[in-house]
Amino acid sequence: MTESRSWPGPWVVEAAEHLAADLLRNSGDRWEHTRTVAARAAEAAEVLPAEQRPALVAAAWLHDIGYAEQVRGTGFHPLDGARYLHQRGWPPVIAGLVAHHSGARFVAAVRGLETELADFADPVYCTGPLADALTWADQTTSPCGRPVDHAARMADMLHRHGPGSANAVAHPLRGPALVAAVTATRRAFLSRRLPASFPVPRPAPAAESSPAPALG
Ligand SMILES: [Fe+2]
Repeated sequence: MTESRSWPGPWVVEAAEHLAADLLRNSGDRWEHTRTVAARAAEAAEVLPAEQRPALVAAAWLHDIGYAEQVRGTGFHPLDGARYLHQRGWPPVIAGLVAHHSGARFVAAVRGLETELADFADPVYCTGPLADALTWADQTTSPCGRPVDHAARMADMLHRHGPGSANAVAHPLRGPALVAAVTATRRAFLSRRLPASFPVPRPAPAAESSPAPALG
């Protein structure tokens, strides 16, 4: 999938919200997580060129649709979500961002899905300010939809998935990549002197509701 890149207009945000609601509205905590990630992405969009902002917010709405029953295929939610979007004609940048959100390539390598994920291999989906901003929004939002420090988010993720999980095996490579993405986006905020309250998340609550969704 090496088509030329084009940026969808603002229409894509409303379309993405509607699709996300159709697929995740009844998923409890996951829907609350999605709503907060989208809201944070809308603020993070300020650090990006204007033409990229709708793509970021739309991808935030859709980043976890791969968990929905109607979307699930391989069981690897970034890939399943991206394939679902590609098959339905969504812009390649949206499917690509969903495929690669939050360091998915590191987990795909552990799960033997590297080749499949490479169908969405444009570098802008994997690294750089746009991909970093989506990772920042996801990795600073708890599974229940609360703003959270990214270190606490990663620790919670490793605890929920367990020591033998693909996430845990991938973590020596994925963890530093997530930190780098979060740090890059935070620095972009600071360099633009955006409100300091935005990039500084509230601490994680002592106990999230249980059971928490297995968000990557
Ligand atoms: Fe997420």
